[in-house]
Amino acid sequence: MILPIYVYGAPVLKKNAEEIDPAYPELQTFIADMFETMAHSEGIGLAAPQAGKSIRLFVLDASVFADDKPELANYKKVFINPVILERAGEKIRYNEGCLSFPKLHEDVYREPRVRVEYYDENFEKHDEWFDGVVARIIQHEYDHLDGKLFIERLSPLRRKLIASKLKRISKGDFSASYKTKL
Ligand code: NI
Repeated sequence: MILPIYVYGAPVLKKNAEEIDPAYPELQTFIADMFETMAHSEGIGLAAPQAGKSIRLFVLDASVFADDKPELANYKKVFINPVILERAGEKIRYNEGCLSFPKLHEDVYREPRVRVEYYDENFEKHDEWFDGVVARIIQHEYDHLDGKLFIERLSPLRRKLIASKLKRISKGDFSASYKTKL
């Protein structure tokens, strides 16, 4: 089922999300809905709060980058209760978007490598390093679980410059090719 995506201004995006355990109701259905919603909106990552659930879970799909990086063909993953244990390397700039900010793209600086402890969809525990675009998506989605939005990683000046755009988004004055919720 395609879920509506909560946009900037929705209180759920600002909450610190809760950890879940394997008994979380309808977990597999929710994960399937997250993938379906992400694909429908042509996203490369989606965090549960963006779908209105304040839980520590996100999905990513990096397969769109397979042209440049063949190892990313069909690269889809679920992260449950993730913890970023280490961030490594000098921060690099990358133009990010977010489904909760239709049509807004901004350069954000983040580390190129991260070590993450997380549970997969079967609640198996992993401890892995990620780099490149996957490390980028993980850090963006991970922020969502802490109620942190990518615009909060911009300089105060840059935020000032896009303030009116942000206001329009929070008032529903935007167009999106996917279902949204204010
Ligand atoms: Ni986002």
